[in-house]
Parts: sequence; structure tokens; C-alpha cells
Amino acid sequence: MNILLLGSGGREHAFAWKMTQSPLCDTLFVAPGNAGTATIATNLDFSATDFEAIKAVVIKENIEMVVVGPEDPLVKGVYDFFLNDADLKHIPVIGPSKLGAQLEGSKEFAKEFMMKHQVPTAAYDSFTAETVEKGCEFLATLQPPYVLKADGLAAGKGVLIIQDLAEAQTELRNMLVGQKFGAASSKVVIEEFLDGIELSCFVLTDGKSYKILPTAKDYKRIGEGDTGLNTGGMGAVSPVPYVDAVLMEKIETRIVQPTIAGLQKDGIPYKGFVFIGLINVNNEPIVIEYNVRMGDPETEVVVPRLKSDIVELFLAVANEKLDEFNLEVDERSATTVMIVSGGYPEDFEKGKVISGLENVENSIVFHAGTKLDKGAVVTNGGRVMAITSYGNNFQEALQQSYDNVSKIQFEKMNYRKDIGFDLVSIEKPSSKTVTTGLFLF
Ligand code: AMP
Ligand code: GLY
Repeated sequence: MNILLLGSGGREHAFAWKMTQSPLCDTLFVAPGNAGTATIATNLDFSATDFEAIKAVVIKENIEMVVVGPEDPLVKGVYDFFLNDADLKHIPVIGPSKLGAQLEGSKEFAKEFMMKHQVPTAAYDSFTAETVEKGCEFLATLQPPYVLKADGLAAGKGVLIIQDLAEAQTELRNMLVGQKFGAASSKVVIEEFLDGIELSCFVLTDGKSYKILPTAKDYKRIGEGDTGLNTGGMGAVSPVPYVDAVLMEKIETRIVQPTIAGLQKDGIPYKGFVFIGLINVNNEPIVIEYNVRMGDPETEVVVPRLKSDIVELFLAVANEKLDEFNLEVDERSATTVMIVSGGYPEDFEKGKVISGLENVENSIVFHAGTKLDKGAVVTNGGRVMAITSYGNNFQEALQQSYDNVSKIQFEKMNYRKDIGFDLVSIEKPSSKTVTTGLFLF
């Protein structure tokens, strides 16, 4: 069948890499894609949120499935657009409905959902410009640090964690009255600070049943030792060594099950990924956020560890047959190191020629912000490419990624040299804890 994949990052190149290995995939189209997807699929020159262009190509190219990478098209309602169009409604879209996408599109919606379905989450209250003074009073009742979250999508920048009360109150005013994050901060959720280790859980659901995918940890800060500004993610490791069977059981019974059951109870159509951001507070997993898509760069380590045919997996989601699907996972570790443009996540230059890619051996290069320019691969974004490797443990995989990173060059190239630094002292779990039986249901 012909398939359309929406998006242009490393996540989408990893999906495309896996989808094109399936005998079920005839032609893969990617909109808009990057220089990496161009080598294995047909890139289309329109944005992932241009629904009319999507409709036109789906009809013209006889596309039979649409897979959505980023959150934007989902929050804007691409699933509903297909469902409400007589020409498109028979074509499955892998991704939640517009209502389901509110789990990521509105922090308040997500918090209300968690409270209603008793999913453990930090205590909170939400405020608007009209109630800004009440918000300041609420802050004064909390212990520092203070967590302020813009309600809407703010490109991963809408969360502020502040030590000082007066500063937190000023920032609350900036967000609500000063529109610091535009419309996204016309409502702000103030949340209890959770002190613990972060981890992510990736779930794929057909709306009835679910599979838990391999765990992964990403490294969001630009600087070594987790310092400096937040980025989209500078690298990732899968599996996460400290996630044992006991913790996984808690995550499944207390968080995954009530989340999937809650979607069903509330009549929210959801056939796609749920990426649950957690903080492990004294071995008690607590949700800090939902995303309605896979993580990037987590996809670049999770997807390479899937042994099963991903197109078959997506078909099982579309046909509500996920409970019958046997998901097989590679026992090896996978790691990825993200190469970024100098200056990112602040201002950076584009159009730098990337060299050395032909020397990479025994790693997979997933392109993110790249494009082809007169036959050359040039930089076209902050995060440029992710170098993924396998190993018997994450240290071995990382060594391989770093060996290959050193063969790639472009002007002002930057990357973190310490991915996995916080995992080194933690023992790798016994092979029992990474068998499919414990992670996959
Ligand atoms: P979010 O966009 O909700 O994932 O938040 C961005 C980052 O802020 C998270 O990855 C955490 O590091 C941090 N964070 C969010 N909520 C909390 C919280 N309640 N307590 C502590 N840290 C938090
Ligand atoms: N790597 C974090 C995210 O995709 O949101």
C-alpha cells in the first residue's frame, strides 16, 4: 500500500526507515520530510498542517494510510478532517482525534483528565488574566520551586521552574497579562514541584487495547551535565537501565491502564501514540505531562529496537486488533547522539554543507534538520541529525555513536559528549527485566 507520513524530523526519518522495510509498504510519501527521508521515500513540498494539500495527494497517489509524526497536525484536527470528508473517511490516520490531542494541546485538559480518571499527577490549579491575583496568592501558599505551565502548545518552552516567589509572581503576570507565550499562555497551570528522576513511557493504543513500547530517556538540556537551555532533545538511550519490573508494573496499572480506560469512558477517539512524561518520586511514578505523539529523539532509539513490522503494527491499530499483535523487541540497547547547529537552541545559521557521512559505519544516521541543496546535504534546522547505534549495553552503543559522530563535520557543529552520563553508576537490569513479556502486553 501507499502510505503518507507527516513531519520532517529525526522521528520521521526513523519511522520512514522502519516503514520502508515492510513488504506491505509500496510507496512512502513524506510531507515535508528532509534529506534523509528523500533517500528512501518521496518527499512532498508542503507542510504537515496543510490539510487541503494532504487531501489532494492522498487522492492522487491512492494513499491508504496516514501516519502523523508531530503534534501540530493532530492538535489542529487532521484525524477529524479525514473522518468528516466523504472521500477520505475510509483511510486510517495513525494519531488521535482533535479531542484526544488536547491531552497535549491543553495542560488544563490533561490535568482535568488525570484527576477524573485518578491518574497520579502533581497537585495544581489554573488561572487566567482575570484571576491573575488569585494565582499570585496561590503561589504564596506553595513551597518553592514554583512550576508555571502555559496551557497551550509553546514549542516545548512553556514551562518555567522558579525558586523565588516574587519572581514566580512576576512571571505569572508576564505569562497571563503580558502574553509571554502568546495565546498559549492565556491560561496558566501552577503545579506542585515533583522531586525525582524523569522517565518516559511510550504507549500505542487502538482505543481499546494497548502495547507499551521500549522505555527511553532523553537529554533535554544543551549543556553537559544537564545544564543550560532546554532543547528538543540532544540524545537518547533505550532501555532505561533503572526501570525495573516493579516500577514498570506500577506505571502500567496506575497510569497506562486508567489512561486508556479513561479515553474509552470519555468517548475520546484515540488510535495512536501516548507518550507519558513521568517523574519517579521515591519509586512512585507520577505524571507530569502527556504527549500525543512519539518523542524526538526517543523514536530514534525506540523504533530501531522494534523487531516487528511497523506497518503491520499500524494496521493492527487501525483495525482495532492490537490485542492480537505480538510485538517483538530487540534485546540490545540503542543510543542516539544528536548533532546540532552551533548556537542552537538560540539563534543559529542554516545552509552549512555536511561532510563525512559516507564514512559512517555500523550506525544509522537519522536526518532531522537537513535538506538537499544542489546535490549536497546541508543543515536546515537546529537539530541536524541523530546518530543511532546498537550495543550489548548502552555504553557500547554510545561508543559506536560517538565514533561515527567524530567522522561527520559541518561549520559550528555541536553535540553533547556525555549522553547517558547519569546512568553509568546504575547497574544494568538483569535480562529478565527487559524481556518483551514485562514491557509489552
Ligand atoms: P513538560 O513540558 O510538562 O514536560 O515540562 C518540561 C519539563 O519541566 C519537564 O521535562 C520536567 O523537567 C519539568 N517539570 C514539569 N513539571 C514538573 C513538576 N511538577 N515538577 C518538577 N519538574 C517539572
Ligand atoms: N524529546 C522530547 C519530546 O519529544 O517531547
